[in-house]
Amino acid sequence: RKVMFSGIKPTGDPTLGNYLGAIKNWVSLQNTYQGIFSIVDLHAITVHQNPEDLKKRSIEIAAIYFAAGIDPKENIVFIQSHVHQHAEAAWLLTCNSYMGELNRMTQFKEKSSKSVKESVPTGIFAYPLLMAADILLYGAEVVPVGKDQVQHVELTRDLANRFNNTYSNVFKIPKPFVNTGSAKIYDLQDPTKKMSKSETSNPNGYILIMDSPDIIRKKISKAVTDSIGIVNYTDEQPGVKNLIDLVCCINGRESSEIVELFKEKGYKEFKEYVAETIINELEPLQNKVKFLLEDKHQIENILKEGARKASEISQKTLDEMKKNIGFYSIG
Ligand code: TYM
Repeated sequence: RKVMFSGIKPTGDPTLGNYLGAIKNWVSLQNTYQGIFSIVDLHAITVHQNPEDLKKRSIEIAAIYFAAGIDPKENIVFIQSHVHQHAEAAWLLTCNSYMGELNRMTQFKEKSSKSVKESVPTGIFAYPLLMAADILLYGAEVVPVGKDQVQHVELTRDLANRFNNTYSNVFKIPKPFVNTGSAKIYDLQDPTKKMSKSETSNPNGYILIMDSPDIIRKKISKAVTDSIGIVNYTDEQPGVKNLIDLVCCINGRESSEIVELFKEKGYKEFKEYVAETIINELEPLQNKVKFLLEDKHQIENILKEGARKASEISQKTLDEMKKNIGFYSIG
């Protein structure tokens, strides 16, 4: 079976965007591919993290993976910092990369545009190289991500090809897997922007996976729509379109069905339907997360075993990289 790799960084609490754009797709792909899923904490520290929050979120994200349906028997799940090979491979890739290609990353351009050049964190600049290491170490060919990460997977392909051409065929060439409906879930307050929990976002703009039903109802009722007043799936109504996309990702219905369903009705009823659809999906998941977190040892055991397996696989690739580069080895 082909390998699929993906991860979420434990910065801020995970959102409905992370769930629909990433986790939900992993769950549906896990029967087709060998899944390797990480809680990518090395990525999280590209911006300062409160140490206690980082710890708490890392285990919570693991619980969310399992509660959402990632089968720990069939997939490898681990915390990135437990597998030292990632940081090491990232350095080897760094020495096969160019400032120019990293400078072209849209996410870097966005994140750095607000600060003066001198104070842009180096980690934010170099981070796609760590992401490339994550993917290439496992020979992953499928990388299920949201649209915002596609460019990083493309860079990973370039780096892999370059390494293979310079040395020998060490790496498989990965492909991003993006689900059309959930590729980009938009902010509820500004539907031109990706839904994200970054500090610049208005809290009413995002739904957290662990938000209570009341909060979800409140946030959806405040979601920005338009003055047209008719539920329609069109680019002229980005707020309504985003809500339809949300619903369709969850219940698998077509946008046209939703439009038909609310043909004679107003936004209030439509939003109630959206909120209840989200709650129906998230509430059972939240209960499972809470249940799983009551026994952290069980999660820790799975993560420990995951790190052991991940370490074994990644070490083989790392050895190949080192051998090809020409590092002296003592047999
Ligand atoms: P991160 O932690 O920002 O987001 C995790 C995943 O959620 C997706 N996502 C969204 N999808 C649709 N709509 C949204 N509003 C939305 N917000 C987030 C992201 O596309 C991502 O798939 N660098 C990555 C983590 C990473 C990784 C990897 C992913 C590290 N190494 C290797 C794949 C393979 C990141 O920062 O994702």
